Amino acid sequence: MWNKRFETSILFNNMSYTIKDIADAAEKLEKQFQELEDKKTILRSPVFRELFSKIKTAEPANRARFGAEVNKLKNEIESWLSALESNMDERAPIDVTAPFPTNSDPSTRFSVLQPQKGSIHPLMKELEAVIRIFGRMGFAAIESREIDDDYHMFGALNFPEGHPARDDYDTFMTTQKDKKGKQFIAPAHTSTMQNRVLRQFASNLDNDEPIAVVIPGRVFRNEDLDARHEHTFYQLEGVYVGKNVTAGNLIATLKVFLQEYYQQELEVKTQPFYFPFTEPSFEFALSCPFCKKQGCNVCSQTGWIELLGCGMIHPNVLKEAGIDPTIYTGFAWGGGIDRLVMMKYDIEDIRHFESGKLEFLRQFS
Ligand code: DAH
Repeated sequence: MWNKRFETSILFNNMSYTIKDIADAAEKLEKQFQELEDKKTILRSPVFRELFSKIKTAEPANRARFGAEVNKLKNEIESWLSALESNMDERAPIDVTAPFPTNSDPSTRFSVLQPQKGSIHPLMKELEAVIRIFGRMGFAAIESREIDDDYHMFGALNFPEGHPARDDYDTFMTTQKDKKGKQFIAPAHTSTMQNRVLRQFASNLDNDEPIAVVIPGRVFRNEDLDARHEHTFYQLEGVYVGKNVTAGNLIATLKVFLQEYYQQELEVKTQPFYFPFTEPSFEFALSCPFCKKQGCNVCSQTGWIELLGCGMIHPNVLKEAGIDPTIYTGFAWGGGIDRLVMMKYDIEDIRHFESGKLEFLRQFS
């Protein structure tokens, strides 16, 4: 592509080199550039070297002007190299993970697996069902991200620097650091998105509408793995802010959702808990949808299942997102989607989800 561009333009067209030696050199360099395989090597051309050495031998009266023009020429060639680079970026991207050249004619590609042989992963299928229910309740859905920073993981959520509650989240980090010198983090919870959605939807409040958003996302924890713990799993965060929002609204919202999802009447209860980003904070439990509180393996014979963390959004979290906590209140929750799905289908081991086992996946196709 660049070849064409440079063939049809005369490179030094607009350049005026008043010194003959330099004008000649420019002409030579232009020719060399056209012919060079690796264009960057132009900067090492002997023509350049010769010009630089001529600066030293130039007559003192002309030396400054000579030097300035040599520099002008060098800058010109450099700008021209960077134009070339940005031109290269415009080429069709290559997907190195694709099993065939993605820019090839589709009719020449071999076929891999027929798409109808695949099926939607059970977690994605259920996640869609969950989002649809919340959608009917007026919640927007925003996807979380898979890499985040210390500010969104902790700072914006009222975890002061050095706070022991930071240790509850055994996170994976990159060696690369952000502008503040903190390592990037693979989010350990979807709460990392709270500050972002509060800001994104703050104008709802000005229009007397609440902020109502659910945020599904993949989260990562340095866990010891067993049937109930995976290093990678999905969470659904919920955020609701408006005027006169109470913990009663929180409990009612979750109860309605769970009854809709499990298609049965359920009892729910809360117990006090601690999270830095909610006050008060609760652990939320529902009556076991399997045994109706009679006691079974799913609920470890207790009749109850602890499902998620929730609470009233801490005033500091609202303030950090530019929302006045003396006017608005809100609730939030966050819980594992895998857990919800495991209970729905009586799946005994969370590790099946990421195992890629076809015997498992085919049961949901
Ligand atoms: N982020 C918490 C966790 O994963 C769960 C949680 C608790 C989310 C309370 C919330 C909340 O939004 O209000 O451990």
